[in-house]
Amino acid sequence: DMLRQRSGPLSGRHVLVTAGPTHEPIDPVRYLANRSSGRQGYAIAAALAALGARVTLVSGPTALPSPPGLATVRVETARQMMTAVEQALPADAAVCCAAVADWRPETVAENKTKKDGKGPQPLKLVENPDILASLSAAGDLRPALVVGFAAETETVAAHAKAKLARKGCDWIVANDVSPATGIMGGTENAVQIITANGIESWERMGKDAVARRLADRIAAALGGGSG
Ligand code: CTP
Ligand code: CA
Repeated sequence: DMLRQRSGPLSGRHVLVTAGPTHEPIDPVRYLANRSSGRQGYAIAAALAALGARVTLVSGPTALPSPPGLATVRVETARQMMTAVEQALPADAAVCCAAVADWRPETVAENKTKKDGKGPQPLKLVENPDILASLSAAGDLRPALVVGFAAETETVAAHAKAKLARKGCDWIVANDVSPATGIMGGTENAVQIITANGIESWERMGKDAVARRLADRIAAALGGGSG
């Protein structure tokens, strides 16, 4: 049974992880999305489970298999991801790795939109809910530790520091996803951990190694197992 209690420093803890992109439909055959393989989030979910946590992985569409030993909830849109996250609470910690689409088309066409010779119509967009910000402000249901990610392409640390304050989370894991780094879609990552106490830069390593190190950090922050 995959929900049985495991041993390890996160035994008895429930950790929520979001991963992958979201897809925001335009019509039955088209969508808006962010680039995200889901690799880093899936690796973090697996690393947390390996430390004994009960893990709920809420994933947007990815090509990855569901990791063994944890509960994966597959969703498509940001609003579905938000609902799945709410349903998974309470949690001791939340790690928001998902590349959530910031905007969605205001309306979804019932049928495939056809070229009609008049040129393309502008797409009207509306903002999606911010899952990380609402988890951080969830009152009694706020996980004790809320971790966000910040994929940036310039002035990474400054953007990430501002994001930490704006989102109300406890840590931001920031990385530079400029195309030249090869990090986006690749197997390695180079991250900086931003907390209220300052910034720590980790050397470039495999996404699995980043995941293990982050899971160890989370276990230390939660102060060992409760069960
Ligand atoms: N995030 C979220 N829900 C959203 C947007 C972002 O949960 N609707 C989370 C991401 O999972 C990530 C963090 O917020 O952990 C930062 O995402 P990012 O896109 O970098 O931040 P934004 O606030 O959307 O700012 P911007 O895209 O303008 O840089
Ligand atoms: Ca965004």
